[in-house]
Amino acid sequence: MSISKEVKRITTHVLQRMKNEGEKISMLTAYDYSLAKIVDAAGIDMILVGDSASNVMAGHETTLPITLDQMIYHAQSVVRAVKKSFVVVDLPFGSYQGNSRRALESAIRIMKETGGHGVKLEGGAEIQESVTRILSAGIPVMGHLGLTPQSIYKFGTYTVRAKEKAEAQKLKSDAKLLEELGCFGIVLEKIPATLAREVAESVQIPIIGIGAGPDVDGQVLVLHDVLGLTKDFHPRFLRRYMDLYDGIKGAVEQYISDVKSVDFPNANEKY
Ligand code: KIV
Repeated sequence: MSISKEVKRITTHVLQRMKNEGEKISMLTAYDYSLAKIVDAAGIDMILVGDSASNVMAGHETTLPITLDQMIYHAQSVVRAVKKSFVVVDLPFGSYQGNSRRALESAIRIMKETGGHGVKLEGGAEIQESVTRILSAGIPVMGHLGLTPQSIYKFGTYTVRAKEKAEAQKLKSDAKLLEELGCFGIVLEKIPATLAREVAESVQIPIIGIGAGPDVDGQVLVLHDVLGLTKDFHPRFLRRYMDLYDGIKGAVEQYISDVKSVDFPNANEKY
């Protein structure tokens, strides 16, 4: 039996065992109670309450506008639904950068008010102090390197990161640093697959990829993309498992038509 099937709850220790024994880790985002309940019941190992909620739930162009209070609201809804998965909550833009005291306060609010199991921060050496302070409070921290959407205005584009030697070198040393500081895992987003493999082989902690190829310890995707709820997002790394956009649109069109024609409600659908 797989490790993830044999345990009652996924913990950082279970995730580490999975890496050690070569069992891939599955991770998806969720932002609300109803979908989190389904994702958890399906047996996902980790749920990310991602700041991508800013895009897919609130319709913002970037992840920058979402607030700590809004992340807490989403995380509370998700945690209420979860029985087994390990829930990681993103610290949003402005809640940790350049101020390690604020970083700790933000992380403590997330842990206290949501019941989430850990937090994720974007960046390497530049956020070392924040990571150290949060870890000193006993809060599990996940790193996030490569394409870090909170820095989109610095990058200027959402294209593949770390193709150049200098950036690849910094990414590798940031991954080592995050491991040494005590992070329990790292997300690598949109980087060359060969670089992701090198990183996964060079550190002991689990590396979860998104657009980072197959040779890492697990994969994460945005649930709304996987379900085909988003129509206008087609990165090469995305695999859609459903077309819910058209499915939902068709159902709503049928409902409208049934209401207009008084087909709904019928004799069995009234009191
Ligand atoms: O917010 C998010 O959904 C993320 C994933 C893309 C890893 O950080």
